[in-house]
Amino acid sequence: MRLDKLLANMGFGSRKEVRQLLKKGAIQVNSEQVKDPALHVDPELDEVTILGERIVYREFIYLMMHKPQGVISATEDLRDRTVIDLLDNEYRHFEPFPVGRLDKDTEGLLLITNDGKLTHELLSPKKEVPKTYYAHIEGVVTEEDIARFSEGVTLDDGYFTKPGKLRILKSADVSEIELTITEGKFHQVKRMFEAVGKRVIYLKRLSMGPLQLDEGLKLGEYRELKEDELALLRNEKAELD
Ligand code: URA
Repeated sequence: MRLDKLLANMGFGSRKEVRQLLKKGAIQVNSEQVKDPALHVDPELDEVTILGERIVYREFIYLMMHKPQGVISATEDLRDRTVIDLLDNEYRHFEPFPVGRLDKDTEGLLLITNDGKLTHELLSPKKEVPKTYYAHIEGVVTEEDIARFSEGVTLDDGYFTKPGKLRILKSADVSEIELTITEGKFHQVKRMFEAVGKRVIYLKRLSMGPLQLDEGLKLGEYRELKEDELALLRNEKAELD
C-alpha cells in the first residue's frame, strides 16, 4: 500500500496534508526518514512512525454502542442525528456503519463497524442470528402470548414470522418481557406484539448473537469490542458458514 494512503487511512489528514508531514520529515519507515508519498509499505511488516510514535495499522474497527433514543441507525441523515454523528473523528475516518437498524425510539446494543463481510453474515436471514430484546408492553402479557410467539405470528402485512422465545418478567397492566427472535423485519418486535393486540412502549436490545450489551456503557456511549467478544463473533460466523 502507498505510504500516503496508509497514513490518510489512519486518520493523519488528507493525502495532501500527509504529503506535507512527509515533506517536514515527520515520518520514518523502519527507522529511516522517508519523504516519498508513493513509497510502498506493508502495514503488517514495516514499522511506520510519525514523530517517533509507532502507527498500528488496522483496516477494520468494531464498536459496541449503547444506542440512545432520538438518533437513527444510519450513516447520514438530513434531519436527524445519526449514530455515526456520536462517534469521535478517530473512528469516523474508517467510514463505519451500523450493523442493522434499531428504530429511532429503541435503545440498546448496536454494533458499528466497517467490516462489510461480517455485517453481511450477521444480517443474512439464512444465518438466523438470535437477537434478544427487553421491552415494556402496554397490556397484560400472558402464557398464551408465549405459546403464540413460539409458533410464529402473522404481521400486519401477512408475513408469518419465525418462532420467537418470549419470557415474561412481569405480567401487569404494563408488562415487562424479554423476546428473542432470529429475524430482523422492519419494526418486528413492535409488530409481533401488535399481532397479539398489545403495544410496545419501551424497547431495548440486549444482545445480538454472542454479543451482549455492556451495561457499563451509558446511553450514547460506545467502546471498541474486546478481543474475546470479537473472537466470539468471528466463531459464530465460522460456525454459521
Ligand atoms: N424491533 C422493533 O420493533 N424495533 C427495533 O428497533 C428492533 C426490533
